[in-house]
Amino acid sequence: MTLKDKHFFALAIISQAYDIIKASTKVAVETKAHSRDLVTVVDKTVQEHINQAIQTQYPDDQIIGEENWTGKVDRLTDHVWVIDPIDGTTNFVKQQTDYGIMLAYFENGKSALSYVYLVDSGHLYYAIKGYGVYCNHHKLAKPKDLTLKESLIAIGIRENFNTSLLETIVNKAFDIRYYGSSAVDGTRTITGNLGAFINPAGGPWDFAPFILFAEELGLTMSNFAGEPLKITDYSDFIIASASVYQELKEELQAYTIE
Ligand code: IPD
Ligand code: CA
Ligand code: CA
Ligand code: CA
Repeated sequence: MTLKDKHFFALAIISQAYDIIKASTKVAVETKAHSRDLVTVVDKTVQEHINQAIQTQYPDDQIIGEENWTGKVDRLTDHVWVIDPIDGTTNFVKQQTDYGIMLAYFENGKSALSYVYLVDSGHLYYAIKGYGVYCNHHKLAKPKDLTLKESLIAIGIRENFNTSLLETIVNKAFDIRYYGSSAVDGTRTITGNLGAFINPAGGPWDFAPFILFAEELGLTMSNFAGEPLKITDYSDFIIASASVYQELKEELQAYTIE
């Protein structure tokens, strides 16, 4: 089984997930951890469909999915899929735009394939290790190394309210833009529209595809402590231009120990 086979398999399941989302009419909404943490029957159906497709085609592969998360993963196998069936569920429910399907595949502990499909705009971002990042089959250029002063920065504001990290960004960045979906905020960063996307509370499915995108495009990505991201658990994370990363590094580290 080659990586290319898995790439075509991933494209097929994303297309099937798209069909499920587009066919959904009456969407039952439930809450999860709190009243602003939404999940719909569509999130669950897409997760179930992708899981079944992987289990049928690659029965030995491991699955880490948001809607079947049971807690910190103890052990990773050599073939791992990380799935966010709908990223930006709040946007999906409230405005039917700015949400996406996210998928990442790891081989022997390393990022091998990444996909973010923005359902409404039809933009499919993907990467195969060593071949760069594509959007709808056009290769993305490496984004400019933006400084903080010239950058729009996406940051989850609710969790950051009153922190010196937010104060620094408000005072030193060009401005703030936050779309409320890692799929959107993250892809805006890999295209260079944003200088950074900072998420204080992400699941593995929120950051997994961006690890390979960042590697292929020369962006910097880590947790707030400056360590490489692990797909075994929740983590804060930043994906940024090298300059913005350097400028925010100390603030991010301070945030971790606050
Ligand atoms: C959420 C979005 C949001 C981010 C949250 C995520 P979900 O994903 O990506 O931008 O700030 O941390 O949980 O729950 O809609 O898949
Ligand atoms: Ca969710
Ligand atoms: Ca998500
Ligand atoms: Ca989700």
